[in-house]
Amino acid sequence: MKGVSLAHPITIVKGRNALLYDINGKEYVDFTSGIGVTSLGHANPELVKTVTEQLEKLWHTCFMVTNYPSCAELAEKLAKIAPGVSEKQVLFQNSGSEAVDNAIKIARQVTGRYYIVSYENSFHGRGAYGFALSATGKWKPYKVGFDPLPPGVELIPYPYCYRCPFKQEYPGCGLACLDYVKKWFINTRVPLERTAGFLIEVVQGEGGYVVAPLDYVRELKKFLEENNVLLIDDEVQAGWGRTGKLWAIENFGVEPDIMTTAKAIANGLPLSAVVGRKELMEKTHPGSFGGTYGGNPVSCAAALKVIEVMQRDRLPERAVELGEMVRKRLNELYEKYEIVGDVRGLGVMQAIELVKDRKTKEPASSETSKVIDKARDKGLLLLKAGLYHNVIRLHPPLTIEKEILEKGLDLLEESLKEVLKV
Ligand SMILES: Cc1ncc(COP(=O)(O)O)c(C=O)c1O
Repeated sequence: MKGVSLAHPITIVKGRNALLYDINGKEYVDFTSGIGVTSLGHANPELVKTVTEQLEKLWHTCFMVTNYPSCAELAEKLAKIAPGVSEKQVLFQNSGSEAVDNAIKIARQVTGRYYIVSYENSFHGRGAYGFALSATGKWKPYKVGFDPLPPGVELIPYPYCYRCPFKQEYPGCGLACLDYVKKWFINTRVPLERTAGFLIEVVQGEGGYVVAPLDYVRELKKFLEENNVLLIDDEVQAGWGRTGKLWAIENFGVEPDIMTTAKAIANGLPLSAVVGRKELMEKTHPGSFGGTYGGNPVSCAAALKVIEVMQRDRLPERAVELGEMVRKRLNELYEKYEIVGDVRGLGVMQAIELVKDRKTKEPASSETSKVIDKARDKGLLLLKAGLYHNVIRLHPPLTIEKEILEKGLDLLEESLKEVLKV
C-alpha cells in the first residue's frame, strides 16, 4: 500500500542486540531500534526465555474477562515506578496512539471539560484515528485527507528554541511562548475553565528530538496546577531510560497527572499504558474503558522482565554514559561540517539537524535523505525526523556495546563526508 512508507528497502531476518542481518547476510548497526522500541536489544535472551515460558502458560483471556498475574503485577509495578509521589493506577492498551486517545478520554471524562491543548510539531499517533491524530502537530503526511478529526484539540507553539516561532533567543526571551499562552491564547482561543489538560512530549520525538527548556516545563506545570488543568505527559518515545532517567519528565522534576507509555515497554511486543493519579482514575465511569487485547499476558510478562533488567543493569545511567559518547562525536561533526546546524538531545536520545546555511537555517532535507541512504549502504540504519525531514535522530538500544556504538558513529561521519564530498 502506497500510504505506508518504508525507511529502508531491505529485508531483515535476524537480530542480535544492536546488530541486524538482512536476507543476504549483510550486517547493519541498528540506530533505529524499530523507532525506539528494542531498547534491550534484538532477541534479548532473557526476554526470549520469559516470553517462551509465558506462551507455554497463557496467551489470552482478556483483562475485561478475568484477572491474570502478569497484568496485575505489571500494573502494580508501573504504578510504583511512575514519576512523582502520588498513588497511581494503570490502564493497558496496545499502541501509543491508543494510550494517548485514552489519556485524553480520561482527562475529559473526569474533569467534565472539553478542550485539550497540544503542541505544534508534536506527534501523538495516528493508528486509532482519534484524539491522538487531532493532537498531532504536523499536517503532512499524518493528517492529509482525514478531516474532520475529533474536535476540541487546539495546538500551541512548542518551545523549539532553534526555530523559535517568536524569533527570540532562549533564555533572554523570558519564555515568550509560554507568555503567549498565558496572556493571549487562553483569552482568545481556549478558556482555561473549559480545558481538561495540556498534552506534551517534554522531548519531542518525531518532531526531531527537541528538548523543552527546564524552566518551561516547570512553569507550565505551575500554571496548570494553579488553574486545575491536567498535565498529560506523552512518554511513548522518550520514556524507558532513553533520556538518562526512567521517564523523560523526571529530568524536569515535575509530576504529571497522567502519563502515556508504549514502544520500549515490552521491547517490541504490542503493549501500551496510561498511568494516572489514582484520584483521577477512580473517577472514571465503570465500563467506559477497555479493549480486547490490551494488557496481553505475554506482553505484560515481557514488560515485567524489561523493568527488572532496566533496574538491575541501571540502563538509564548507561544511557547517560552512552549519550556522552554520542554527544561528543556529534559536537565534533558540528565543528567540522557547516551542514550540521544543531546538535541536541537528552541522554542517548541525541540528534543533528542539517541545514543548507547556518544563518538562514534552510533545512537540508534532501541531503539528510542522502546521508541516511549512504549510511545504510555502509551498514548503519538511521531514522529521519523533524518538521522538514532534516533531522537525523539516533535510537541505539541501551544495551549496545560501546565498540558497536563507536562503529555506528564512524559510519555516520563517513556517510556525511561522502555526501558532502569533503
Ligand atoms: C510521542 C509519541 N506518542 C505516540 C506515538 C504513537 O505510537 P504508536 O505508533 O504505537 O501508535 C508515537 C509514535 O511514534 C510517539 O512518538
